[in-house]
Amino acid sequence: MARIAYDDQTAAAYKAVREVPRDGLEEWREAVRRHLSPSPGMTVVDIGAGTGAFATAFSDWFGLDIFAVEPSAAMRAQIARRPGIQVLEGDAGALPLPDGSADGAWMSLMIHHIPDMEAAAREIRRVLRPGAPVLIRQGYPDRPYTTRTFPWEFFPETVRTTDTFPSLEQTCRAFATAGFRRDALEPVPETLMSLAEFLAQVDVLRRSATIMRGLTEEEFLRGKEQLRRAAQDAEQTSATKPRANWLDLLVLR
Ligand SMILES: C[S@@+](CC[C@H](N)C(=O)[O-])C[C@H]1O[C@@H](n2cnc3c(N)ncnc32)[C@H](O)[C@@H]1O
Repeated sequence: MARIAYDDQTAAAYKAVREVPRDGLEEWREAVRRHLSPSPGMTVVDIGAGTGAFATAFSDWFGLDIFAVEPSAAMRAQIARRPGIQVLEGDAGALPLPDGSADGAWMSLMIHHIPDMEAAAREIRRVLRPGAPVLIRQGYPDRPYTTRTFPWEFFPETVRTTDTFPSLEQTCRAFATAGFRRDALEPVPETLMSLAEFLAQVDVLRRSATIMRGLTEEEFLRGKEQLRRAAQDAEQTSATKPRANWLDLLVLR
C-alpha cells in the first residue's frame, strides 16, 4: 500500500504539477549518464514509474528500452504509450520481469512507499543482470538539505512526513541484505518553478504530494500566505527565476 491513494484525481494532479519540467532536469541527465553509462537498446526498469516523466526522459535522452512498472492504474494511464516504453502493472516487491533481464533500475521518489524494502531489494537483485546499478532519486531525513528545501521553506511542517521516510542508512542496509553495495552518492539540483508559478499550483500540488497531504488546513493556509508574500516580493525585485531543489542520487551495485 502506498502512503496515499494514487487515484484518478491524484494522478491528474501529479501529471499537471509534479513532473519537473524537462529543461529543469539537465543535471539529472548528466548524473544518470555518469553512473548508468547508457547506450541505445539498454534495458532499464523504472520502478514506481508514476506518470512516466522519467521513463520518457530516459527514452528521449539515451534511447533506452524502458519497463515502466507501476502499481496504480490511474498513474499508468498517464504514461505516454510509445515505442521503447513498456507499461507494466507491478510493484517493487513483485516485478513482472524475468530473472537477469534489466541493465539498470531507476527508483524516483518512491522508496518511502515500499512496505518491505528488503523484499524489494531481493526482487530487484533477481531482475538485474550482475553488476547492473540501482539508481535512486530521493530525499532522506538524515540528509536534511534534501528534505528541508523547497517547499519546506514555506511549509516547514512537511518534515512531520519526511522524517518518517527511510533514512539513507536504512536504505543502504536494506539493499545490502540482497548483496548491493553503495557505489556513489551525490546531491543533484533540479530547476522547478518560480514562486508565482508555485503559488498558482499549490492547491493542486497539495492533492498530489505525500508530504503536503499531511499538513493541517491551518498549516497549509499559513504557508500559502507566506508564499504569496514571497512571490509578491520577488515580483517587485524582479527575482522571478525558477527555484532550485536538491535531491540525492544514490547508486547501488
Ligand atoms: C511520488 S510518485 C513518483 C513517480 C515517479 N517515479 C516520478 O518520480 O515522477 C510515487 C509512485 O510510486 C508508486 N508506488 C507506490 N507503492 C509502490 C511500490 N510498493 N512499488 C512500486 N511503486 C509504488 C505510486 O503508485 C506512485 O506512482
